[in-house]
Amino acid sequence: MRSFAVSVALAILLSTAGSAADPKAGKIVYDKSCKSCHGADGTPNPAIEKMLKVKMWDLKSKEVQSRTDADLRKVNIEGEGKMKPVAGITGPAVDDLLAYVRSLAK
Ligand code: HEC
Repeated sequence: MRSFAVSVALAILLSTAGSAADPKAGKIVYDKSCKSCHGADGTPNPAIEKMLKVKMWDLKSKEVQSRTDADLRKVNIEGEGKMKPVAGITGPAVDDLLAYVRSLAK
């Protein structure tokens, strides 16, 4: 019984630790992997739009920010339409990146 209580406490601890996404860590990922196309603050790079012949949404915009976490998490790393998947973002970095993209709205 005691070990059960301990594992429950541990599970709660681990799950809250896991959901504590860090937007500061996310910014490092963003600056490295996204900024060249999406700008320092989410404003699309016009040269990329022209080159790919596509209209990109501003990541600060309501159109992007109103998407669900699950949806945005997926697009951020798998891309969509003319955005190719971005390699090398795994584990906690995925949530950190999402937290950073969300923070652009504010
Ligand atoms: C090589 C340029 C490039 C890089 C690097 C890139 N993206 Fe994109 N991204 C695009 C383009 C182009 C679109 C628009 C795709 C379309 O609509 O066909 C897009 C779309 C998006 C969208 C959906 C909004 C929209 O405009 O449709 C999100 C969210 C997004 N990117 C996040 C990210 C994140 C986060 C990263 C870094 C991990 C990243 N992108 C890296 C080019 C890029």
